[in-house]
Amino acid sequence: MTVQENILIKQYNSFGISAYANLFAKFNSVDELEELLEFKKFPFANSPLPMLILGGGSNILFTKNFPGLVLKNELKEIKEIKEDEHHIYVQVGAGENWHQFVLHCIQKGWAGVENLSLIPGNVGASPMQNIGAYGVELKDIFYSLEAYHIHDKKMVNFTLNDCEFGYRESIFKKKFKNEFVIMDVTFRLNRIPDFNISYGAIGQELDKMGVKDLSIQAVSQAVINIRSSKLPDPAVIGNAGSFFKNPEISSSQFAMLSSQFPGIVGYDLPNGNVKLAAGWLIEQSGWKGYRKGDAGCHEKQALVLVNYGNATGNEIYNLSEEILQSVKEKFGVGLEREVNIV
Ligand code: FAD
Ligand code: EPU
Repeated sequence: MTVQENILIKQYNSFGISAYANLFAKFNSVDELEELLEFKKFPFANSPLPMLILGGGSNILFTKNFPGLVLKNELKEIKEIKEDEHHIYVQVGAGENWHQFVLHCIQKGWAGVENLSLIPGNVGASPMQNIGAYGVELKDIFYSLEAYHIHDKKMVNFTLNDCEFGYRESIFKKKFKNEFVIMDVTFRLNRIPDFNISYGAIGQELDKMGVKDLSIQAVSQAVINIRSSKLPDPAVIGNAGSFFKNPEISSSQFAMLSSQFPGIVGYDLPNGNVKLAAGWLIEQSGWKGYRKGDAGCHEKQALVLVNYGNATGNEIYNLSEEILQSVKEKFGVGLEREVNIV
């Protein structure tokens, strides 16, 4: 385990921002993490340094160099810990790649994660914002997780209720922000698939693929096809997926907006509110395909901001601010950033 100084972290964030970390280290075990957390041991630091836990760097925007210690989580292992008549319980190290884990489940015939195929990043970050796509959220297959409390120096077990999952939310983004390092996550997967193809585009894609007998492989492939057709591949164009969340408004505000903007896209929520498609709001505000320097709004998905090469984090952030203001002016709806700004 080595601590490197003044490291370029461009390769560690999917936006491809050329930021530097004052100090950078990778850890593979609780012992290594504990050693790294003993800041006083470092010859460079007399007082506690700001610290950032990094997974795959696919939901983060660096707007400046990081003036402290970046710790990259590399904990690996996929372990079947128990099973019952209907379920398999699988404990996964936080440093495992999410999509590789999904493929592992599909190959084993474990159902539940297929709709979450091709989401970038690592397993350890998946509970942070309760990742979701195509009608499924992490909470639907989550069983528990183990996290290390940075100040109390002890491991804590969190069950489903403890995590307070919501739409792109968890307790780790709110009350316990920067307090815990997630070390492993246990999933409860299904022996018999309970297919969720309610998200319209999946059914259409399965038809296009000529699928007659539904399988977890087929659903996963349909999701991969849809995602690949509209989301930019970070290996080619820097991005962090949806930059903003889809905003929730009241049904009365939705009715008002609908009369003014008849094409507006909204989905009814169980609480009576309506979730708006932020991509539509941004497109209608004229941003889709916009480019200023190397910062842009993606031409196929307006909710995704992109770095065409050498944009700085500040340029991307400033673009997001302009978008946010123009959507507010046109529709009176405030957008909230999904990406973690550092
Ligand atoms: P990072 O970006 O490294 O970290 C994200 C946050 O979590 C940071 O605040 C970090 O400090 C913290 N963190 C990371 N690991 C730990 C840990 N072990 N313990 C404590 N804190 C930690 N998201 C969706 O929900 N649905 C999608 O469909 C989706 N599509 C995407 C498509 C593309 C092309 C891209 C680039 C991103 C997409 N995302 C999507 C966002 C992203 O993939 C997820 O948020 C993912 O879970 C981030 O994982 P990561 O390991 O890269 O996290
Ligand atoms: N739309 C437009 N113009 C655009 C983009 C979208 O009009 O440029 C409208 C379309 O009407 C479309 C609707 O918005 O039907 C929804 O678009 P899409 O199905 O692409 O989904 P999204 O709401 O833009 C959300 C998630 C994605 C997730 C997909 C699929 C958020 C913030 N984003 O995007 O998650 O993959 O649904 O479930 O909830 C992420 O979080 O990073 C992410 C990519």
